[in-house]
Amino acid sequence: MDHGNTEKYERILKDKLEWGKLATFVPNKDTPVYNWFFYKEGFARELVLKCLESFGIKKGLVLDPFCGSGTTLLACKEAGIDSVGLDVLPMSVLAARAKTTDYDWEKVRETAKKLLKRKFKFVQSDFPGNLRRFFQKHTLDDVLFFKGEVDALPEDVRDFFMLALVRTTMKASWAYKDGSVLKVRKHPVPPFRHFFRRMIYRMIKEGESKKGKGKANASIGDARNIWLESNKVDAVITSPPYLNIIDYTKVYAIENWFAGKGKPTPLRSYFGFSEGKEGEKKYFEDMGTVLKEMHRVMKKGAMAGIVVGNAYFPDRVVEVDLILAGMGENIGFKAKEIIVLNKRPALEGRTRKVGTLRESMVVLQK
Ligand SMILES: C[S@@+](CC[C@H](N)C(=O)[O-])C[C@H]1O[C@@H](n2cnc3c(N)ncnc32)[C@H](O)[C@@H]1O
Repeated sequence: MDHGNTEKYERILKDKLEWGKLATFVPNKDTPVYNWFFYKEGFARELVLKCLESFGIKKGLVLDPFCGSGTTLLACKEAGIDSVGLDVLPMSVLAARAKTTDYDWEKVRETAKKLLKRKFKFVQSDFPGNLRRFFQKHTLDDVLFFKGEVDALPEDVRDFFMLALVRTTMKASWAYKDGSVLKVRKHPVPPFRHFFRRMIYRMIKEGESKKGKGKANASIGDARNIWLESNKVDAVITSPPYLNIIDYTKVYAIENWFAGKGKPTPLRSYFGFSEGKEGEKKYFEDMGTVLKEMHRVMKKGAMAGIVVGNAYFPDRVVEVDLILAGMGENIGFKAKEIIVLNKRPALEGRTRKVGTLRESMVVLQK
């Protein structure tokens, strides 16, 4: 595929490899609330804070059109900045919402007390047959009983309990994420209700000590069609799905069943569903539409930081960072810099270098 003259953007590449880890979710693992849902595809809180600082954003509105588990939204909240996030995966939006909502903790505690006292009864459920093998029967019966109870909770606390339920369910399941597939790994599981109680109270404790006054709005939506009015956004901090990456939506099949209120959600709007050349063409078409939407909703002078990875096909490297810089300029952005967070050689047959695989943040200004 011809992506035009991308070489001229090589001069704005700037190594900041010491930030490499921040392009991953790993630093969030020990950070309360951020770690309420381990999202392998996510980036770190510090990356968002560094962006806010370098873009000079102290107030206003930040957008993340691929908000995932809500790292951008939560970091903005902490910094006192309002934010809007969109994602197509129900589970991501559930996590982003539960993490960023200002709950009435008194009400959450009251609800927890009542919920945990409910007497078990067997409920019929449309939980998919192919996912049942990840559970012991009595564990799944408990899970589905609580799912019904959480569904019936008042809306202003439901997401919190649903996330607690999903987290406990995954810990009590035999599901194990191995790349893009879910595998069964059997292990002993403590009584579910006891497990669920511990999870709820731990999350309440962490949630109560959450800081920051920014308002966050996360909803299911498509980055190619952003619901915001034009010229409203002070900065974009985001990371789209990477080109040629495995389809990781399947490994969240159990979580999505809960978050989607039991109905499977069609993911036709998901990036990167076709493979090879066709997938590449479609990916850049989609990214073109997203860049245009970002440009439309951003204020003049506003900055966007977009974390992307280059892709390796058997014989060549697609330099997604340079291509997006060029596409951005064609749309009307100024490509300011490409911060290289990680890089490694792309080797063919383990020895012949065919290019460099970078993970970078493309910085554009409207
Ligand atoms: C690399 S992840 C972003 C992770 C996020 N930065 C975090 O820290 O959790 C990319 C996200 O884009 C979402 N996505 C894929 N296609 C989308 C679309 N058309 N519109 C909005 N989000 C989409 C995926 O569900 C995924 O959560």
